[in-house]
Amino acid sequence: MPTDLSSRLEPSQEQKKKKQLKARLLSDAKLKKPHTVAAQGNESNLSQRSQASYFNASESASDFKYFPAYKELSLTRDVSEHLQLENPFFKMHQGLASDTTVIEGRSYINFGSYNYLSINEDPRLIAAAKQAIDDYGVSCSASRVVSGERAVQRELESALANLHYSDDAAVFVSGHATNVTTIGYLFTPKDLIIHDALIHNSVIQGIQLSGAARLSFKHNDCDELEEMLRQRRGQFERVLIVTEGLFSMEGDIPDLPKLIEIKQRYNALLMVDEAHSIGVLGETGGGIAEYFSVSSNSVDIWMGTLSKTLASCGGYIAGSQALIDMLKGGAPGYLFSVGIAPTLAAAALTALDIMRQEPERIKKLNSNAALFDRLARLHNIDTGTNQQQAIIPVVTGSSLMAVRLANSLFEQGINAQPILHPAVEERLARLRFFICASHSEQQIMHTIDVLSKSMRSLEII
Ligand SMILES: Cc1ncc(COP(=O)(O)O)c(C=O)c1O
Repeated sequence: MPTDLSSRLEPSQEQKKKKQLKARLLSDAKLKKPHTVAAQGNESNLSQRSQASYFNASESASDFKYFPAYKELSLTRDVSEHLQLENPFFKMHQGLASDTTVIEGRSYINFGSYNYLSINEDPRLIAAAKQAIDDYGVSCSASRVVSGERAVQRELESALANLHYSDDAAVFVSGHATNVTTIGYLFTPKDLIIHDALIHNSVIQGIQLSGAARLSFKHNDCDELEEMLRQRRGQFERVLIVTEGLFSMEGDIPDLPKLIEIKQRYNALLMVDEAHSIGVLGETGGGIAEYFSVSSNSVDIWMGTLSKTLASCGGYIAGSQALIDMLKGGAPGYLFSVGIAPTLAAAALTALDIMRQEPERIKKLNSNAALFDRLARLHNIDTGTNQQQAIIPVVTGSSLMAVRLANSLFEQGINAQPILHPAVEERLARLRFFICASHSEQQIMHTIDVLSKSMRSLEII
């Protein structure tokens, strides 16, 4: 049997079905209900499929228009058109996006960039990146195993190892791929991986690749995690617990000392994704270990990205020598992928230097985030569980309202991106504000003023 019955329907029935789904989506949007797609059959056992189903396959088997993902995308577009919603995504920025940005010739106050310490525009960073191009060209043109090392790549890895007080570090070409290949390579179906419910997609992809069993505990709920370990620890060879240093959707922080205590008690491994915490948490930007003053060695796998505070592109793992040797010797995303471009390595290295030398940037970022959150709460704006650290959600209650609010702010010169279902639960759809060190108090006060008026006129508050 084909897994997607709709591929067998006659065109008129297909259209009828599309119409019904569209009507349902529209009424869900109006009622602020989460939109669920009817479960499709999911046969994974090849031997159960009759040969005939391959030969009978219509054009739906070879035309991307019939892929379920494309059909869903088309429906979303139809609904947006029907509701006359401007698409708030893929805006074309002209030039540097920092506390302000220019889109189609107009300047906006910008809350859509991970450039937390405003280092991306620093002339020292730009000079270092240009110098690396003069020294090495743009690409190193093959994996480091094949094409050999560039000094700047090793210097960056040493600096990242120092940042985490670890033996060593390995740098990969993408933050997302770092999680996928590291988890996918290290763990097996004999293992269990337990992660926070709000963990980043790249971790989930890595777990799926590894074949390990997967459980998720309620966001920041250490008691639920412990209960899972109590019941399951004995059934698996290794157990990995994964959390984020600063959660990218909520802007809140896990109880790291408690997680360390639990992982030690159950002889598990602990991995922390520091994508959003480097440069944000801790007085010198050292991340969650510095924030809680805990020993860095208590965490087994430190993961981070170069694309946020460090104003570059790529990801890294820091940890024991055995861990790094293993990844460099066998992780497919390291071994079979090009080495980080020297210009990106030089930029990240310089950004780390600037972050360490100028802790006043971190102070300014923190006071900006605190001001934003304080003012928002004064206006009864729901900013969730954020801890006044660079990421502040503004919950709108539905995806439709999130898009409407984003578009209303945009019309008034403020750029902030909506986060919609299924990225978050429908009732928790939101706008996400990334605060940076170079935002001025005036920009923040003006934004809260516009935000609260818009939320009132849309009857969100
Ligand atoms: C928590 C977390 N981990 C990993 C990544 C992937 O990093 P990159 O965008 O640098 O590939 C992201 C991206 O935003 C993230 O938020």
